[in-house]
Amino acid sequence: MKIVTRYKSFKLAHNESLLDGLLRTGHQIEYQCRNGYCGACRCKLISGKVSYPTPPLAFVSDNEVLACCCKPESTLELDVERVATEQKTEQTA
Ligand code: FES
Repeated sequence: MKIVTRYKSFKLAHNESLLDGLLRTGHQIEYQCRNGYCGACRCKLISGKVSYPTPPLAFVSDNEVLACCCKPESTLELDVERVATEQKTEQTA
């Protein structure tokens, strides 16, 4: 399934979770339980549709997805940040 963020578009590998796909492609996303309990992996859904093979315990509103346990049902457009690259700021006195 195709995933689009403001930085990248990529396809999930076979059996890869959305969370793993986002991490693999350099996105910054929190996670803890990887099981739908904690809600740490909640991210904003701009467009698309997901389902949950097992209903998650963590609260998730209509415009959000739990990346660890959702199953994309269409192309997803997500609002996810990219991992901050270290920027060397030159400090000259
Ligand atoms: S990592 Fe805990 S709900 Fe996704």
